[in-house]
Amino acid sequence: MRVAILGKGGRENALVHKISQSKYVEKVYAIPGNPGTARYAHNVDISLEDFMSIAEYVNNEGIELVIPGPELPISRGIKDFLESASSAYVFAPPQESSFLETSKIRAKEFMKRNNIPTANFHSFADFESASSFVRGYKKYPVVIKADGLAEGKGVVIAHSPAEAVSVLYEFMVERKFGASSSKVVVEDFLEGLEYSVFIVTDGKRYKWIGDASDYKKAYDGDRGPNTGGMGSISPVPFLTEEMRRITEETIIKPTIKGLETEKINYVGFLYFGLIWTKNGPMVLEYNVRLGDPEAQVILPRLENDLISIIEAVRKGTLGRIKIKIKPEVAICVVIASGGYPVSYEKGKLIYGLESVSRDVILYHAGTREEDGKIYTDGGRVLNLVMIGEDFKTVSDRIYNEVEKIRFEKAFYRRDIGDLTKFNL
Ligand code: GLY
Repeated sequence: MRVAILGKGGRENALVHKISQSKYVEKVYAIPGNPGTARYAHNVDISLEDFMSIAEYVNNEGIELVIPGPELPISRGIKDFLESASSAYVFAPPQESSFLETSKIRAKEFMKRNNIPTANFHSFADFESASSFVRGYKKYPVVIKADGLAEGKGVVIAHSPAEAVSVLYEFMVERKFGASSSKVVVEDFLEGLEYSVFIVTDGKRYKWIGDASDYKKAYDGDRGPNTGGMGSISPVPFLTEEMRRITEETIIKPTIKGLETEKINYVGFLYFGLIWTKNGPMVLEYNVRLGDPEAQVILPRLENDLISIIEAVRKGTLGRIKIKIKPEVAICVVIASGGYPVSYEKGKLIYGLESVSRDVILYHAGTREEDGKIYTDGGRVLNLVMIGEDFKTVSDRIYNEVEKIRFEKAFYRRDIGDLTKFNL
């Protein structure tokens, strides 16, 4: 089988790596890919916005399966388009079902209708009603979320009515995120421990393929601005079997049942952003894709051939699949460009890639190759992943390796895998 992965980040490098290990796969393509995906796949320089050229390429090459990494092509209907314009099967939900990630309001209403625990919320489509609501609200802090996609920057915690009004003004009047922030959700702030669970589903059945915690803030000790993720670990260190069972019973099963009863046609990965509160687990958000950098620790621990799982989804036999996850733990450390996530320079020559130990899985994110040399080309540049017996051992080993990689103004968090933030 010929398989194409869409995207060019670390998550897509992890997907390409995993798919290249499948016994069913003859050739892997990365559209557009990066220098890391080029080690396992044929990179194809087509923009993800150009659905027509992707369809043409898929047809010419006889590609049978396409797996989109990021949410954008999914939300723009890559499944609907490619499945009608080519003979490929696209492992992702159709555009209409991507509302679980692309509209916070619709996702919250779905949760409410299906009794899925989540923070109390109110949604607004105009600034006057939203600001009058937050002025009169008594329970601070509140969380303000742009309704649409905002590259992970559309969620702000406001500690006072004045702060909330100012965020609403930026979002709804100044349109900080364009149409994405013309509507908002205002919800109660939840206290607890955050974690993420990843499933594959055909909309009726599901399999838990892994869980992870990410490190969202830029600097050690969870300080600084929010980023796409500066590192991740798997499994979630505080999640006991009982907590996992409760997560399945109160969140995952009602979500799948909701999809089925509401006749929402869903297929693909589904990512649950969760928080364990004093009242049990609650949903912070759904994403219709794998996380980045969570995929980088989930996929290397998954023992199953990913193609067997996807084929089972396709044939309606997912119930027969037994998921096997390695008992070892995994850590991913992201090396970023100085100044990320605000502003950073590109084009810095990267040294030391060849001296990294063979035990490290090295994924590229924002890099580019020129004349055999690798340069930085984004905010999150490289991901180092290691697997081992326990978080302490793996963390010590991975930081020895991270130090071997150098480029001007490189930075990374030094506390990925440190469990103190989980009170463990
Ligand atoms: N790491 C967070 C995300 O992928 O949305």
